[in-house]
Amino acid sequence: MQVLVTGAAGYIGSHVVKQLLEQTQKEIIIIDNLSTGFLHTVDTLKAIDSTKRRLKFYKEDLANFESIEKIFKENNIKEIIHFAASSQVAESINKPLQYYLNNSVNTISLVNIAVKYGVEKFVFSSTAAVYGEPEQTGQLISEECLTKPINPYGSSKLFSEQVIKDAAKVNKNFKYIIYRYFNVAGADVDGKLGECHDPETHLIPLVVKTALDKRDSITIFGTDYGTKDGTCIRDYIHVCDLADVHIKALDFLENNESDIFNCGYGYGYSVKEVIDSVKKVSNYDFKVNIGVKREGDPSILVANCLKIKDKMQWKPKYNSLELICKTALKWEENFSKEKND
Ligand SMILES: NC(=O)c1ccc[n+]([C@@H]2O[C@H](COP(=O)([O-])OP(=O)(O)OC[C@H]3O[C@@H](n4cnc5c(N)ncnc54)[C@H](O)[C@@H]3O)[C@@H](O)[C@H]2O)c1
Repeated sequence: MQVLVTGAAGYIGSHVVKQLLEQTQKEIIIIDNLSTGFLHTVDTLKAIDSTKRRLKFYKEDLANFESIEKIFKENNIKEIIHFAASSQVAESINKPLQYYLNNSVNTISLVNIAVKYGVEKFVFSSTAAVYGEPEQTGQLISEECLTKPINPYGSSKLFSEQVIKDAAKVNKNFKYIIYRYFNVAGADVDGKLGECHDPETHLIPLVVKTALDKRDSITIFGTDYGTKDGTCIRDYIHVCDLADVHIKALDFLENNESDIFNCGYGYGYSVKEVIDSVKKVSNYDFKVNIGVKREGDPSILVANCLKIKDKMQWKPKYNSLELICKTALKWEENFSKEKND
């Protein structure tokens, strides 16, 4: 029996496979088309597999339904963790159909094959973008809050959630966990894996690159929000804590019903605090520009994550902004060294 992890050549999926290798005996299948993921990440994971037998990699696109079905025929997949997706909000506004195809249509097809081949557990990467703008500024966002996405990325994920829920209603052996991630950040605490998006749009890796002189400066978009220091506040979850909840999800579904959970810490940091933290851990005072507010950037997005803590007995281990910035910095340093060697 194997667990299929789609998109594990990418940022979050690779951290999950590392933990699956280190903390379980499971055999793992990765499907990734390497559109935004990297072969070097798969090689790193293969090197972590001390048995050299537990990890199989298929370079394949989820859109190639026949090839994907062949993988199910050749293996005995009973669990799926589905990360593969396109995930840049701005790009989704310019290329909505690409997002609906890659995120929604490919998820429909994967769920369809999963049901056909008797998959019992399906863990899905959703996003806080399904909530859109909070109804009240500053309110902690719980799973019961209204889902009203404001971009095709969020809509494509919300639609996928519905597909998974509807499939589970009529297939009693098919259970799911839907995770709505807030801002995922940081890197593997052993320094083997980290974030490599191209182009990078996330704040922490951008600030870290600035601290390492890979960028001239960092821009704060808006300093007159109604927050403690006027800059936007977000809930940053360390990627290793997030990876841990995915391993937990598979155990949880043994004895519990399908469910939806927010993934965050329930506490937010401002853009200025992030910049100050990176300056502190890098010991480098880089240039910061002040720009105008961006459209569709709510002032505060913080998760209410009592549900996951309560129902899954989840205790985060890495909930410190300094640790998030430190691991992100270490990864960026190591990664550039490797590239230059
Ligand atoms: N990074 C975040 O802060 C964040 C926040 C919320 C939700 N998410 C979700 O988490 C998941 C993983 O995000 P990430 O940051 O690791 O992204 P990523 O781009 O690093 O990883 C996605 C992986 O999926 C692969 N992929 C994409 N389309 C594919 C396809 N059609 N067939 C096969 N492989 C395909 C890519 O090559 C890549 O390796 C995504 O579903 C994303 O929407 C991420």
